[in-house]
Amino acid sequence: MQTLVTGCAGFVGSHVVDQLLADGHAVRGVDCFTQYYDPARKHRNLDDASRSHRFELVDADLRTTDVVALLDDVDVVYHLAGQPGVRVSWADGFGEYVSLNVLVTQRILEAVRTRPVERVVYASSSSVYGNAQSYPVRETDVPRPYSPYGVTKLAAEHLCVLYAENWRIPTVSLRYFTVYGPRQRPDMGFSRFFDAALGGEPIPVYGTGEQVRDFTFVADVVDATIRSGILPTPPGTVMNVAGGESVTVNGLVDLLGELLGRSVEVTRLPPQPGDVQRTGGVTDRARAFLDWAPQTPLAEGLRRQLLWIQALSSEHLANPVVRI
Ligand code: NAD
Ligand code: UGA
Repeated sequence: MQTLVTGCAGFVGSHVVDQLLADGHAVRGVDCFTQYYDPARKHRNLDDASRSHRFELVDADLRTTDVVALLDDVDVVYHLAGQPGVRVSWADGFGEYVSLNVLVTQRILEAVRTRPVERVVYASSSSVYGNAQSYPVRETDVPRPYSPYGVTKLAAEHLCVLYAENWRIPTVSLRYFTVYGPRQRPDMGFSRFFDAALGGEPIPVYGTGEQVRDFTFVADVVDATIRSGILPTPPGTVMNVAGGESVTVNGLVDLLGELLGRSVEVTRLPPQPGDVQRTGGVTDRARAFLDWAPQTPLAEGLRRQLLWIQALSSEHLANPVVRI
């Protein structure tokens, strides 16, 4: 199968690329290496993929590039490009969120109208739910985002649904719940916690630390994503992709201490606007459509993220090969 992976150099996108190549597929990856975090990190994420003759990298910005041309021969689109980050989506930065998350998704859907494909898989987010009335959340619950970022992820998801309804574009939106593991973005919780603890600094915890997250290991997210491009689903389907283990940030700090074999210091920072108190999702729909369920316990996933960080810092070379 010929695939197009947008955001191919990012945390989740690069793992999707590696797995598609390992499964024998051809990948055209597009990324413009935004400055949200060090682009050198993103280039390193593609070290393995770049060695494959079935991988083609297109360095282009989806806001302006000819998307129809990118779709040449493509069977399935995995759309992971976007501007992530819940807590920094306020103020002037919002324009970037709107253009990278909403306008780019609309450009892709319009291009698919011109040049049809078998499936468009969109990386949506648990942030569409906001602070829900009860947990765990189901896809049928009314979404009420709590951050500007969440608004843009929901707007793009609505576009995927309405292009399916009006134009029969075969879209699937996956609501990823806080993804972690090797290559995690440096602004995300686990990355910041490991960086602090390994550097002898106190772990920065926002608010009380009693906020709960349903963390999802990246290999499980990749598995659900690739299956969504292949297995049949009604156009416009929306699915939760959640790890199934809810834990507080304070609980996570304890887990980290156990993993590192020593107690870790914490520094308390103000609560962050846009941060929801809790996430947690029912994954029955993904089980029904994709025969998917999360496989990686949190302690094991954390251990694998730590191994990757250690390998990276000990080698000082290119991205070490640590399988997810
Ligand atoms: P990431 O920032 O590591 O990856 C996104 C990639 O998209 C980056 O490499 C960036 O350079 C690229 N990109 C952005 N705008 C582009 C454009 N206009 N043209 C070309 N490339 C562009 O982020 P990630 O954590 O891997 O997230 C991937 C997707 O999954 C995002 O859409 C995000 O909203 C969604 N998501 C992530 C999580 C998570 O926990 N990581 C959870 C829910 C949803
Ligand atoms: C993550 C991603 O960053 C979003 O792109 C994604 O859409 C979202 O998951 C989602 O699931 O929809 P978030 O849950 O905020 O957002 O993930 P982290 O940055 O890993 O934060 C996890 C928890 O750790 C949050 O409760 C946050 O308050 C806490 N945290 C994070 C801290 O206490 N200190 C930090 O330095 C960083």
